[in-house]
Amino acid sequence: MSSREGRKGARTSVRRFLEMKREGTKIVALTAYDVLFAALLEEAAVDLILVGDSLGQVVLGYDSTLPVTLDEMIHHARAVRRGAPSTFVVLDMPFMTYQASTGEALRNAGRALKEAGVEAVKLEGGDAATCETVSRLVTAGIPVMGHVGLTPQSVHALGGYRVQGRTQEEADRLRREARALEDAGAFSIVLELVPAELAAEISTSLTVPTIGIGAGGGCDGQVLVLYDALGLNPGFTPRFLRRFADLHGEALQGVKRYAEEVRAGTYPGPEHSFDAS
Ligand code: KIV
Repeated sequence: MSSREGRKGARTSVRRFLEMKREGTKIVALTAYDVLFAALLEEAAVDLILVGDSLGQVVLGYDSTLPVTLDEMIHHARAVRRGAPSTFVVLDMPFMTYQASTGEALRNAGRALKEAGVEAVKLEGGDAATCETVSRLVTAGIPVMGHVGLTPQSVHALGGYRVQGRTQEEADRLRREARALEDAGAFSIVLELVPAELAAEISTSLTVPTIGIGAGGGCDGQVLVLYDALGLNPGFTPRFLRRFADLHGEALQGVKRYAEEVRAGTYPGPEHSFDAS
């Protein structure tokens, strides 16, 4: 391999996502946090992997996304990168890695691209300060995915994990924020927990694709937390979630069968054992 050869790059790109929107091709996104699930998503040819800061809850056991650090995100995003070398990977910038100043946002987002090798970062919020930051990152060559509606890093300010945009005032704010993020150069925008009609209207009004979660079928793509979609998290039952597998049930049966066989002495058998020669 010559010094210019290396990873071939992602199958999809910022330009491809815009084309998909124009063609009406839905964008398929899921989260991943480790090498094996990342490889599985690549094998299934999803269009985009998000290393979400939901990592804090579903992998690290925190009770919100707030404690997640950039080092934790980079550590997991590197594993995802190794598992999915040909998929477009987005790293979710954790709480307080981009809010304090644009300079800090630039340095931290730069670390995501340099150290984790991801293609893009995601930032929550669509207020003027966030849009200014988005614009600076994009100017520096860092693709940015926006995120409005329920923004879990603001859970305390929002008063809980509830649907956003149900009042006229909130709906108008969401319309403004989505437009401002597009104007700032975001290549796509996550709409989380937004009434379906409003999400569809915002999606139609933008040229960049929207990726919905709990925002109905009118978005240009969908994202779910992988463990929720695969049924690994049976206690989490929001209205928007469909389980596409029952990994919790399957895994529990597997672990119980293993335990039974070890206790009964039927595993390992001779076929699993080595002789001396
Ligand atoms: O952290 C995350 O996984 C997310 C998605 C659910 C959009 O932000």
